[in-house]
Amino acid sequence: MRVLVVGSGAREHAIVLALAQDPEVTALACAPGNAGIAAVAELHGLDVTDPSAAADLAKEWRADLVVVGPEVPLVAGMADAVRAAGIDCFGPSAAAARIEGSKSFAKDVMAAAGVRTADSEIVDNPARLDAALARFSPPYVVKDDGLAAGKGVVVSSDLEVARAHASTLLDGGHPVLIEDFLDGPEVSLFCLVDGETVVPLLPAQDFKRVGDGDSGPNTGGMGAYAPLPWAADDLAGQLVDQVVAPVAAELVRRGVPFQGLLYAGLVLTATGPAVIEFNCRFGDPETQVVLALLRTPLAQLLRATATGKLAGEAPLEWADGAAVTVVVAAEGYPGTPRVGDVITGAEAEGVLHAGTRRRDDGAVVSAGGRVLSVVGTGADLAEARAEAYRRLEGVHLAGSHHRTDIAARAAAGEVAVPSAE
Ligand code: AMP
Ligand code: GLY
Repeated sequence: MRVLVVGSGAREHAIVLALAQDPEVTALACAPGNAGIAAVAELHGLDVTDPSAAADLAKEWRADLVVVGPEVPLVAGMADAVRAAGIDCFGPSAAAARIEGSKSFAKDVMAAAGVRTADSEIVDNPARLDAALARFSPPYVVKDDGLAAGKGVVVSSDLEVARAHASTLLDGGHPVLIEDFLDGPEVSLFCLVDGETVVPLLPAQDFKRVGDGDSGPNTGGMGAYAPLPWAADDLAGQLVDQVVAPVAAELVRRGVPFQGLLYAGLVLTATGPAVIEFNCRFGDPETQVVLALLRTPLAQLLRATATGKLAGEAPLEWADGAAVTVVVAAEGYPGTPRVGDVITGAEAEGVLHAGTRRRDDGAVVSAGGRVLSVVGTGADLAEARAEAYRRLEGVHLAGSHHRTDIAARAAAGEVAVPSAE
C-alpha cells in the first residue's frame, strides 16, 4: 500500500512513523512534511489549503491511501477532492468536517443527538455583546466560532478581559461563542469513525496553556500523556455510548456521515461528561502518545476506516505502560515565534519534528511555533515522564521554552473527577 500523508507537524511525524511499521506499507510520502519526516518518507511540496493540488499529487504519486492530518484542508474539502479522483482518503468530507469548522454547527448536532455540552450563545452583533455576557457568570469562556488553531479561546474571570477578546474577534468579522465554564479534568478521546461504526483509541490528556501550573495563554498544546491512570477503566466505552456514537449517528441522519478521526474534547464534570469541542482529525500533541502505544498496524486500520470496513476489524492492541510527550516551542510562541534558529539533538529517538526544516547547509532549523515534540514511554506514567524529560535534555534550541510539569499531577495521583456534592 502506497500512503501519502498531508501535513507538517509532530502529529504527522508520529503518523508517518506508525505507518512505516505496518508491513503492508510499501511506500510512504508526506506533503509538505518537515526535516524529521524526511528521514522516513519522501517529501513533496504542497499548498495544504488547495484540495485539487492534493488530489493531483495523490494521482501522480499513485497513492492507494491519503491520510489528511490537519483540519484546514479537511474543512476546505481535501478529502472530497481526493475521493473524487478515485483514491481512498482517511478524513471527513468538508460537510462532515463542519463539526470542527463551525462551533455553532457542532452545538446544533449535539443538541439533536442529546449530547451534553456547555450552554452557549452566539454573538455576531457587537451591540448585543454586553447583554449576552451579562447572562453568563464568571469564569467567562469566549471563543471564535470558526477555526483558530487552539488560540481562539479566552477563559477568564475578568469581565473586561472576556469583553476585550470578544470585541477583537467581532471587529475582525468573526462571530463569537460565549459559553458556561465546565469544571473538571479534560479528556481527549480519539475515535475512528466510518459512518456509524465507532472505535475509540486510548483516552489522553493534553496541556493547552503555555506555562507550568496551567498559567498563561492557550496554545495548540504543550504536552500530553496516555492512558489516564485516574479514569475509570471503561471511560472510553462510556464516552462512545454517551457522546461519540450519538453524534456519528446524527451526522449520518443529516446525510453527512463522518469518516475519519472524530476527536471529542470533553470535561469530566461532577455531573458527568460534557463536550468542549469536536475536532475532525487526530489531535496534536495527543497523537504522539496514543500512537506510541498502539500495536495494531495503523495503515490497515486507516484504510478500513476510509473504505467503510471498520466493523470487520479485530479489537485494537495496545502496549502496556504509558507515554508522555513534551512540546519544545520557539521563543515568542504562542505569539509570533522566532524562526531560523539551529536545533541540535533533534535526530535522537523519541524526538518528533513539528516546525523544522533543513537548511541548504544541512543544519536543522526552527520553522514554526511548536518545533519539536519529545516522546518518552515507560512502565507507568512516572517512568514515561522521566524518559521524555531525559530525552529533552539532549535537544537544544536557543530561546526555546517547554513546560516542566507535563503529566506531573497525574503521575502523583492528584487528578480526580470532582465529586457531586
Ligand atoms: P477549544 O479551542 O474549544 O478546544 O478550547 C481550548 C481550551 O479552552 C480547552 O481545552 C479548555 O481548556 C478551555 N475551554 C474551552 N471551553 C471551555 C469551557 N466551556 N469550560 C472550561 N474550559 C474551556
Ligand atoms: N490538542 C488539541 C488539538 O489538537 O486540537
